[in-house]
Amino acid sequence: MDNLIKDIDILPADEAQACEYKVTAEENTGKSKKLYIESYGCQMNFSDSEIVASIMKENGFDTTATFENADVIFLNTCSIRDKAEQTVRKRLQQFNQIKSNRPDLTIGVLGCMAERLKEKLLEEEHLVDVVVGPDAYRDLPNLVMAAEEGQKGVNTFLSREETYADISPVRLNSNGVSAFISIMRGCDNMCSFCVVPFTRGRERSRDPHSIVKEAQELVAKGYKEVTLLGQNVDSYKWSPEENNKARLNKKEAEHIQIVNFAGLLEMVAKISPSLRIRFSTSHPKDITDEVLYTMKRYDNICKYIHLPVQSGNSRILDLMNRTYDREWYLERVAKIREILGEECGISSDMIAGFCSETEEEHRDTLSLMDLVQYDFSYMFYYSERPGTLAAKKYTDDIPLEIKKRRLQEIIEKQNQLSLVRNQMDIGKYQEILIEGVSKRSEDYLKGRNSANKVVIVPKEDLEIGQYVTVKITDCSSATLFGEISR
Ligand code: SAH
Ligand code: SF4
Ligand code: F3S
Repeated sequence: MDNLIKDIDILPADEAQACEYKVTAEENTGKSKKLYIESYGCQMNFSDSEIVASIMKENGFDTTATFENADVIFLNTCSIRDKAEQTVRKRLQQFNQIKSNRPDLTIGVLGCMAERLKEKLLEEEHLVDVVVGPDAYRDLPNLVMAAEEGQKGVNTFLSREETYADISPVRLNSNGVSAFISIMRGCDNMCSFCVVPFTRGRERSRDPHSIVKEAQELVAKGYKEVTLLGQNVDSYKWSPEENNKARLNKKEAEHIQIVNFAGLLEMVAKISPSLRIRFSTSHPKDITDEVLYTMKRYDNICKYIHLPVQSGNSRILDLMNRTYDREWYLERVAKIREILGEECGISSDMIAGFCSETEEEHRDTLSLMDLVQYDFSYMFYYSERPGTLAAKKYTDDIPLEIKKRRLQEIIEKQNQLSLVRNQMDIGKYQEILIEGVSKRSEDYLKGRNSANKVVIVPKEDLEIGQYVTVKITDCSSATLFGEISR
């Protein structure tokens, strides 16, 4: 295998969620105006940008991949760590320049930072015209119209019902193979470090029939994989009583049963055996055996679980308000192994240097990683967020240098584990779905196996969107390399 190909498709683990951003693709359907969107943060935000593009399309906007051509620029922002917000502030400074030459340009800040800072953002960033939170995107066309007439606007109303269920997202940056489907919004957990419950509001689940319909439409367009998205997918719960009281009459309501996450997974898995199903994020306190057995029953539900632990120490988990302890977590992992076997991919999120964490407690995180043998992880050092429980109750007392050193140890541990886990795949035959061209060489394609690992294969006569069985021949800590098995 060509060495050149080896280190491709690697996202620096500690940066993966903090700095990544995606830009809209060009779409020309003859609309009179152009919208440019940049999305930061998690997959939910990317998925929301697709809803925003759809709402704006209905109101006369095509998307553009070059902001110089845009009439409206939206930044869909993230507040999860301070660094994520600083990235957006710097980007706004760059747009300042453009705006001074083009006063007709409308600039909007959407997403979690908009929700967190509200009117303050207009005061602090003078070039911004509209500030719109995650539940108020239906109001964007009005606010943009007002901005075009010189009226700045803010809508950060958080809803208990909004799921945008009826909006068919415009697929941005799509490879035509994989798509995200939001199945719920908000979060009712109160992890003490986390800003999401404040920026995304109360948890609510989307009507399962609209989810199935969206997946069916994707299949009809040739998509091969959907990822069901929510901050805590295992608490997905939809019933007419909880979600739809106002809209259904009594007779209609009688025919609808409560659907939990296992039920939803099954409904989506049944759409087509050649549609792969993934989901994210699972919360260790909520993931049920029923979900694991449903995964086992359907070959097209990928054998991969993102199960963020955050810390391997029970005292820290308690301070974090995660509502499980080390033993509970390890029991859940044992159950995953029992039901789905060694090959099921497991990944995690880890926070180094949370308030009052001792060296010994930090080492508990390292030892838990050894026990679980994660395939990969997203790793961060603790960043205090204003307004969270931890900011109110605890002192952010671990010096930055120590946080960074602990994070480094966690990253090194993960790299070792990833390599071990990847080496276990060598010699195996796996089905992969080809998703695109490898970043470093046109002669290679990249796909993913069921456990969510990237596999690089020679292009030969393969096409994007095709399933192919490959023999794994080599690996790095981030990537598998395979040859087509005929
Ligand atoms: N709903 C998901 C996580 C969403 S946020 C879950 O419950 O696991 C993604 C990740 O960012 C979290 O898992 C956590 O590891 C990290 N994170 C959240 N708040 C943070 C903070 N204040 N400092 C550092 N990392 C944080
Ligand atoms: Fe944040 Fe916890 Fe909700 Fe995840 S489950 S979004 S970490 S509050
Ligand atoms: Fe960031 Fe909001 Fe997602 S804070 S991680 S964009 S829910």
